[in-house]
Amino acid sequence: MRILYVVGTRPNFVKTAPVIAALRARLPAGRHTIVHTGQHYDRLMSEVFLEELGVPAPDHMLEVGSGSHAAMTARMMERLEPVLAAESPDLVIVPGDVNSTLAAVLTAVKMGIPVAHVESGLRSFDLTMPEEVNRIVADRFSELLFLHSEEAVGNLRAEGIADERMHMVGNTMIDTLVALEGRFRAAAVAARLGVEPGAYALVTLHRPALVDGPLLPQTVERLAALAAEMPVVFPVHPRTRKMMESLDANHPGLSLIEPLGYLDFLSLLADAGAVLTDSGGIQEETTYLGIPCFTLRDNTERPVTVSAGTNTLLGLDPAAIAGIPSALAGRSDAPSEPPPLWDGHAAERIADVILAHS
Ligand code: UD1
Repeated sequence: MRILYVVGTRPNFVKTAPVIAALRARLPAGRHTIVHTGQHYDRLMSEVFLEELGVPAPDHMLEVGSGSHAAMTARMMERLEPVLAAESPDLVIVPGDVNSTLAAVLTAVKMGIPVAHVESGLRSFDLTMPEEVNRIVADRFSELLFLHSEEAVGNLRAEGIADERMHMVGNTMIDTLVALEGRFRAAAVAARLGVEPGAYALVTLHRPALVDGPLLPQTVERLAALAAEMPVVFPVHPRTRKMMESLDANHPGLSLIEPLGYLDFLSLLADAGAVLTDSGGIQEETTYLGIPCFTLRDNTERPVTVSAGTNTLLGLDPAAIAGIPSALAGRSDAPSEPPPLWDGHAAERIADVILAHS
């Protein structure tokens, strides 16, 4: 069996690494081809992740780099088509909801190659989010849909997708977290940065709705105020860094640092007193680790992290950051249970379904 995996961004690597490992273990004689679109290309956004996750070097690097959505997606499709023609895979596997996912699904489906979508069925119901468009297209055209939470079933049924295509397998991002737990717990990055475990806030922000417009300066102001109450550590995504160039972000207690490798990031996440984010994956990781998470968005495609986890939706409203210290003080310490099947074995279930299907 020939399986081709398409990845392109930081979270893609995290979600796909355990799937590649599980399928390689079950199909040692199969051909496993990894294609990296190059959507993320900085060493800290790409290579470091692949190395830490133990993903073999990609067989094909498409090197598309950054660009507008249309330019990036078109370049990926153009470069992927000859690779798919040459490799002639039996199945293409794509994770998540980024532009690399969209390009891979469209290219493969038009060539008649079946696609499996990992992390299927998430919906924010906000079509202004580029990821929402990517999710809908990926689910519409993938033959095998791998779901990580119950609400995905209703979302997919509402779009007329048949139950036979859906497979509830759990969360492969949590597989990676579980596999790395010994290593990131030993990394002690908080000490290296001079902050006390449990007493600092970790911040990540990169979504266009927040960082590409007037909300960014307001957010930085609110972070400076928060930093007067608790140290704030903010590894800055390159997109956000670019937008912050003209801002004064020099405030006591607010540390802006380079993006981190995954082990270092998970170490800081696991030791944080609170996390403020607009990321999807981080809402899930904090839920698994039991760390309070505040999401600076109006909606989430991951409502299970609110209903069963540690996530609070603040809204797309920087002023809401001011409420974090009192929300932390009023929070009960009852341990939360991760959602069902977020147990470190999702990729094995995916591999079982693929083998049974082939
Ligand atoms: C992309 C995904 C988003 C995901 C995020 C994870 C889409 C539509 N968006 O957002 O869903 O949550 O990745 O990080 O696919 N840049 C660099 N170096 C890099 C990568 C990006 O400098 O290695 C800069 C460039 O200025 C680029 C900008 O970041 O234009 C945005 O990159 P892009 O891949 O378009 O989107 P992200 O914001 O990273």
